[in-house]
Amino acid sequence: TMAEKGGYRHFMLKEIYEQPRAVADTIAGRLKDDEGDVYLEDLGLEAEELGRIRRIFIIACGTSWHAGLVGKFYIEKLARVPVEVDIASEFRYRDPIIGEGDLAVLISQSGETADTLAALREARAKGGKAVSICNVVDSSIARESDGVIYTHAGPEIGVASTKAFTTQLVALYLLALRLGRVRGTLSAEDCRRQVAELLSLPRKIETALELDSAIEEIARTFVSARDFLYLGRGNQYPIALEGALKLKEISYIHAEGYPAGEMKHGPIALIDENLPVVVLAPRNETYEKVVSNMEEVRARGGRVIAVATRADESLRRSCDALVELPETTDDLMPVLTSIPMQLIAYHVAVLKGTDVDQPRNLAKSVTVE
Ligand code: G6P
Repeated sequence: TMAEKGGYRHFMLKEIYEQPRAVADTIAGRLKDDEGDVYLEDLGLEAEELGRIRRIFIIACGTSWHAGLVGKFYIEKLARVPVEVDIASEFRYRDPIIGEGDLAVLISQSGETADTLAALREARAKGGKAVSICNVVDSSIARESDGVIYTHAGPEIGVASTKAFTTQLVALYLLALRLGRVRGTLSAEDCRRQVAELLSLPRKIETALELDSAIEEIARTFVSARDFLYLGRGNQYPIALEGALKLKEISYIHAEGYPAGEMKHGPIALIDENLPVVVLAPRNETYEKVVSNMEEVRARGGRVIAVATRADESLRRSCDALVELPETTDDLMPVLTSIPMQLIAYHVAVLKGTDVDQPRNLAKSVTVE
């Protein structure tokens, strides 16, 4: 009913709008400002153990795997520990080299995904430690891990994950900050600065949500496309993958996410006036390179939907539609660029008349192999 959905037309939309609160709740109580550190109540590992970790394996499925791909950037940058990111169903069958001194980080909204649970058991059986990032309290994965960081997103009903994803990014960021502090790669002062930015995120997500009706207009323009391409670089590449996945899941339009720099090695052959290309182009180190990717798309007749911050003239000239987000640090930008990814998919699906909350052939939680 409408009441269950808090007055929203779909659970997915309600959950998209719950993100400012979900993110705030995931941060709440976990910051130690006086010490410039982060407190993770159920992490289950002592500082000494965290200091000794040699390698980290992030393992997950679906949207949670995309969060893991962003997590690699966080942990390698802030804590300087090498990270591998695996799809759970691949990890368990490749006889992974994991053992003492290694940490597996399992990410699962439901905490019940069969492949992720099996990967957790495999990692522990081989002598690794395992912590999980889960949204469901006391779920199987949470219970079988050495420790857990709960995302406090609240129940997620829509099959397409939204608030669980952005809170997973926040949980991974908190973990990276904690690891960085313990391992001495992050000063208290730098940690404090990152924490201040974290605290400003909910407000910025609200600002991003104000773009909803503009994004609905964009969706209207591109709804009849048969395929979409999503491009991003660095920590925005996983968001391109996630944007493409969201669109596929609920609108049944084929979409592909690609690292922008790889476009010239294949996808560029697909570009014509029928292919909308969503380009993630926030201001960062690779901004100019991404803008030139946009120019390459346009030169071949492709239509560009740019997702940017502080868009300059050259970007404005190279796109057909522009979504302009508030600024945050490069690390936290993926949280903000996720919002238009969700809204584009949502509005395209609504316009196509598909079942947004219960897309065909998909399950919220896949408890069989
Ligand atoms: C299913 C859901 C996805 C989800 C994936 C992993 O495929 O439809 O939205 O990302 O499972 O689920 P998990 O609960 O482990 O995060």
